[in-house]
Amino acid sequence: MQLSASKKAATAAPPPSSQLTTFEHVLYGGIALTAASVLKRELSPGCELIDGKQIAQEIRQEIKDKVEEMKTITKGKTPGLAVVLVGERKDSQSYVRSKKKMCAEVGIRSEGTDLPEDATEEQVLKVVRAYNKDRNIHGILVQLPMPKHINEERVLKEVSYEKDVDGFHPLNIGALSQRGREDPRFVPCTPRGCIELLKRSNVEIKGKKAVVVGRSNVVGTPAALLLQRNDATVTVVHSRTKNPEEAIREADIVIAACGVMEYVQGSWLKPGAAVIDVGINAKDDATKKLGYRLVGDCDFKSCKKVAGKMTPVPGGVGPMTIAILLQNTLEGAARSYGVSEQLGLKK
Ligand code: GUN
Repeated sequence: MQLSASKKAATAAPPPSSQLTTFEHVLYGGIALTAASVLKRELSPGCELIDGKQIAQEIRQEIKDKVEEMKTITKGKTPGLAVVLVGERKDSQSYVRSKKKMCAEVGIRSEGTDLPEDATEEQVLKVVRAYNKDRNIHGILVQLPMPKHINEERVLKEVSYEKDVDGFHPLNIGALSQRGREDPRFVPCTPRGCIELLKRSNVEIKGKKAVVVGRSNVVGTPAALLLQRNDATVTVVHSRTKNPEEAIREADIVIAACGVMEYVQGSWLKPGAAVIDVGINAKDDATKKLGYRLVGDCDFKSCKKVAGKMTPVPGGVGPMTIAILLQNTLEGAARSYGVSEQLGLKK
């Protein structure tokens, strides 16, 4: 256990696939190659698989090119990301490792501060404040969830909204919800990834009916706001909604992010709907080496028979979250160096 904050530069290249944990496989889309090809064979002729692994790879390549361009324009400056991890959750450690490795792959500097499970809120705030002041850091990410004794809202509010690459600061979420005002500096990564998957798969959003299943702060709520900003008519269904399937049956686009294994059924879908499955759930499966397999919040078997386009799990939304985190960090750095326009990036 680390008793004090330790800063570590992450420069290593990603390890070979065989050394990845299950969570890293999800993030890299490492096993998605096999999963995607198996799933593709299972698809009904009318349903096209949205390959998040491939799209995330394209985005990372675009980022890598822009980082090189940034270096040329600014005479060697690069984006910098700081990752704060509190506690010893294996899944969070794994996500953080993956984020740093992906940074290294595209030329983004990353550093991290790991605090022990019993760190005080004041210790966490102190680390965040130091990164707020660090001119070489353009993005700050506090890995969630944090231990229960820490007030998450207070910590997220402390992150400078200009470095809030997670897009969770109330100013960024507030800006996301308003029309005709200043754009948010950053949009939450997974919801932005969902929209990017739709756009890059040529799914029209404007004027369409969309349903978001789930209302979490991290995915459901910002996903609904983003769909609305893209001119969809949006319904959010959640644990207290009566007959959620009634709304889902009307939807041209479904984003499922309720955290309930295989919740959305094919019989609830409008034929041809585009389905983005954000869920990652471990389902017991004695035929697998690990004793389980990963499934989403949609029942893939029945949904694929009705959907027009659909993301698989793994290999759909998972790899997109980090790709967008890198994109947000690049955009933050470009703003800070005053080169957004030159790089053709969002200001
Ligand atoms: N934990 C699960 N998803 C996320 C995310 O998108 N950002 C952070 N900071 N923590 C998470």
